[in-house]
Amino acid sequence: MELPFAESYRIKMVEPIRRSTRAEREQWLKDANYNLFNLKSEYVFVDLLTDSGTGAMSDRQWSEMMLGDESYAGASSFHKFQNAIREITGFEYVLPTHQGRAAENVLFSVLIKEGDIVPGNSHFDTTKGHIEYRKAKAVDCTIDEAFDTTLIHAFKGNVDLSKLEKVLRESGNKIPFIIITITCNSSGGQPVSLENMKAVRQLANKYGKRVVMDSARFAENAYFIKLREEGCQHKSIKEIVREMFSYADAITMSAKKDAIVNIGGFIAMREKELFSSSSVFEIMYEGFLTYGGLAGRDLNAIAQGLYEATEFDYLETRVKQVEYLGDKLLDYGIPIQQPIGGHAIFVDAKRFLPHVKKEEFIAQTLAVHLYIEAGVRGVEIGTLLADRDPVTRENRYPELELMRLAIPRRVYTNNHMDLVAAGLKNLWDRRNTIKHGFRIVREAPIMRHFTVELEKI
Ligand code: F0G
Repeated sequence: MELPFAESYRIKMVEPIRRSTRAEREQWLKDANYNLFNLKSEYVFVDLLTDSGTGAMSDRQWSEMMLGDESYAGASSFHKFQNAIREITGFEYVLPTHQGRAAENVLFSVLIKEGDIVPGNSHFDTTKGHIEYRKAKAVDCTIDEAFDTTLIHAFKGNVDLSKLEKVLRESGNKIPFIIITITCNSSGGQPVSLENMKAVRQLANKYGKRVVMDSARFAENAYFIKLREEGCQHKSIKEIVREMFSYADAITMSAKKDAIVNIGGFIAMREKELFSSSSVFEIMYEGFLTYGGLAGRDLNAIAQGLYEATEFDYLETRVKQVEYLGDKLLDYGIPIQQPIGGHAIFVDAKRFLPHVKKEEFIAQTLAVHLYIEAGVRGVEIGTLLADRDPVTRENRYPELELMRLAIPRRVYTNNHMDLVAAGLKNLWDRRNTIKHGFRIVREAPIMRHFTVELEKI
């Protein structure tokens, strides 16, 4: 008999979670104004809101926490952190930050000015937020295939080179850099191929531009390259990572994802000049250059986490769990973004709930129903997240209305995945009874999805 696949870790510490009743969940969600961010976490049974900062650290990471050097300047923890990043990414200059968006804030303070244009592949919302806050514009150059959830394409995160070249040709003088998000979260945790990164690099060279990689899930991206890209099967994950980053000038990193820590981030770059100018903002916004908003113990845990997250066995266990859930949903006929991405399942809410109008927030409606059905918290990646156009203040309706089920790293078992799948199956079976969504009662001027208040229609 062929031995089944099993996780490449065992569990040494557990955290109890609590079941609830449907009536309790209905009340809690009403009190939270139908915004899942407003729920107390103890009201959630399986929390798939995000894979960010929610991973389980290893015994080695916890032991590194005890070795943290909390000196204000020049701590040994910083050197450990810097060495790990240098070794894994190949970049010489490193700045710690308290998380990914802080890295964006520091680096973009140097690079972006009013009126600029930043092309890339489906910019993450904080990335877009930091661009638009500076009165610049994010132009999405993702390949069209990414927007058809049924289409199988090995690298749906890829940048469309002709879209990119058009922007470079037409607005070259306004472009400070090109950003590639690996994996591309907004299009479904979809990877970018090495070939595509190389081609973007060549275009950037032709037009004299920098390439920045938003690297939150860089290790998962490398895993897909190893599995799917021709000629990469024999390369190690660490070799692939070095090659990926050889095509970038700088990276921003949310260590809360592929460094498997609860908080942290960094910027890494090749140019000394860029490092010097970023250092000024680093000190203003984050802290001294050798801690950047983090404790010494956090720096240690990140260093250890980076080594672990770039191990093939870890990545295989991780991505296979996401696939396990996705395959179940596909078996039930539930429409999800395919192929299945690295960190999450993205349910195609327009196809799940065809009766709900786009003005009534389709993906949010699905997320609300899933919570009430099964105590599972997902997140809307749709019209609420897409926010309003900064100039016209009209709602922006994205091509895809998705409900994301992000799987924390090394946290849940496949029994939890079975429960999530069963909850969605129940909704799928009565999808025709769900006809109405929500209207907004209150919203913030930017990044409204975190705090928006809704009422039932
Ligand atoms: N870039 C990407 C691709 C991300 O997914 C995130 C965060 C960030 C940057 C910002 O990093 O949260 O450390 O400030 N994504 C989380 C998520 C929040 O749920 O996908 P951060």
